[in-house]
Amino acid sequence: MKSNRNILVTSALPYANAPLHIGHFVEYTQTDIWVRYHRINGHSCTYICASDAHGTPTMLKAEEEGITPEKLVEKNSSSHLNDFKTYRISVDNYVTTHVPENKEITEEIYNKLKKNNHIYKKNIKQSFDDKKKMFLPDRYVKGTCPSCGAKDQYGDSCEVCGSTYSPMQLIDPISVISGTKPTVKGSEHIFFKLSEFEDELKLWISKNMDITLVNKLEEWFKQGLKDWDISRDSPYFGFPIPEEKNKYFYVWFDAPIGYIGSYLNFTNNQKDEEFYNFWQSGDNTELYHFIGKDIVYFHTLFWPAVLSGAGYRKPTAVFVHGFLTINGKKMSKSKGTFINASIFAKYFDPDFLRYYFAAKLGPTPDDLDLNIDDFIARINSDLVGKLINIASRSSGFIHKFNDGLLADKLINRKIVDVFLKKANQIEKNYVERNYAQAIREIIDLADQANQYIDEEKPWFLAKDPEFQKKAVEVSTVAINLFRILILYLKPVIPGIAERCESFLNVESMAWSDKDKLLIGSKLNNYKNIIDRVEKAHAIKMIEESKI
Ligand code: 2FM
Ligand code: ZN
Repeated sequence: MKSNRNILVTSALPYANAPLHIGHFVEYTQTDIWVRYHRINGHSCTYICASDAHGTPTMLKAEEEGITPEKLVEKNSSSHLNDFKTYRISVDNYVTTHVPENKEITEEIYNKLKKNNHIYKKNIKQSFDDKKKMFLPDRYVKGTCPSCGAKDQYGDSCEVCGSTYSPMQLIDPISVISGTKPTVKGSEHIFFKLSEFEDELKLWISKNMDITLVNKLEEWFKQGLKDWDISRDSPYFGFPIPEEKNKYFYVWFDAPIGYIGSYLNFTNNQKDEEFYNFWQSGDNTELYHFIGKDIVYFHTLFWPAVLSGAGYRKPTAVFVHGFLTINGKKMSKSKGTFINASIFAKYFDPDFLRYYFAAKLGPTPDDLDLNIDDFIARINSDLVGKLINIASRSSGFIHKFNDGLLADKLINRKIVDVFLKKANQIEKNYVERNYAQAIREIIDLADQANQYIDEEKPWFLAKDPEFQKKAVEVSTVAINLFRILILYLKPVIPGIAERCESFLNVESMAWSDKDKLLIGSKLNNYKNIIDRVEKAHAIKMIEESKI
């Protein structure tokens, strides 16, 4: 394991046109656990995110609310940041892609692409809404599928037969915005020559992407890389394209550049050596993007090609996760399973969701299900019943018989060593994003700790004054096991871990503190660290989420 690595990590930037729901937190939890693990293991790990401000949906939503797009972005982005704090997502910087730093970098990258001859112009025809006087993005046109005849399909692909087409091929198209029939209008657009990067991308992907994704990417290469339209006509909420009239950068052009923009905002617009190392030379630095499986094309084809074309470094790796389903189904507003992150946090400790997601997250982009009954059972069994129970059942004897002081010797070093020996395996699981396996290992240890207590029966020893000292000694072993478990789980449940550190009366623990045993030290009074999860709360939460 290399020490003192210099790592930059991003999560995909959530759209600023709506609040965050719990599905978003699969990714932020996955990223944050990885970041926190690397930080407590002594690496420098900077975590950058932002709200994705631009695009037609933001423009239309602002119009609907009767406010400017800037106001809408400000409102949602501040709610996003609040949710990040509530869920203890430890970002170092959170702004929006509308900040001046992002405009500066977007223009700089565009100018470099232009200078390096990766940009050209071409006339294209698009659906146009005469009433609204705007070009219609594919998803804003609906009609009958030209392949199978299914009604009410979007302008880019059919949800029934899966075929893809252009909105102009739809039968009986209508504009989703005005309900009128779109016309077809021509306009000059700006294209990025993605096709030129094919060989470079193939090489980068074979070295830097997980094998599970390489196959999918090969399919795309087989279909041939198409050049990318990076411009949109007015009216559009975005950054104007320099030296063009009424043209804006397409939201997906400046969104990933927002990773750099937010980083530059973090450094107070200082393009220092660190900035160049992270973004241009790549010297002694690593860059990782965590994303969902729906945006792989953008991050593994467009983005590295744009970076390379503008003389920037390419990412070290892109980590991809699957989608969240609830009770086995897509989240649904009418069923109350489209749960906003802020509503979930009103009913449950956010660390519980982090824990549940971690227990189900592996390194591959499989979908993950949040089953509400399973969630309740799992939290009550693992966190309340197995983990925190070790502390609650042990601390009483230490306070009652030894003034809150742990015993001055460890009567069972063997079991402590078993726990410590697991560190490498758990470490490997965190690094490889196999959190489900890490949790299995840790809960298996928690079972062993409880078994130790059950076998030693401190409650029985406590009845006889002659054995009360032994009850304290047994409890001291248990508290030491508990401390190690909390350290192992710290990246997953940072809030609970902090409360446990305060109970254990220890400073914030790093991975290297794992063998600092607690002997003869003072334990704080045990206060209820977490509460059991009640089904009634879940029912209320679902009611509140129904619309
Ligand atoms: O899919 C999305 O939610 C986009 N807003 C993600 C953007 S990630 C990055 F490219 F900015
Ligand atoms: Zn169809």
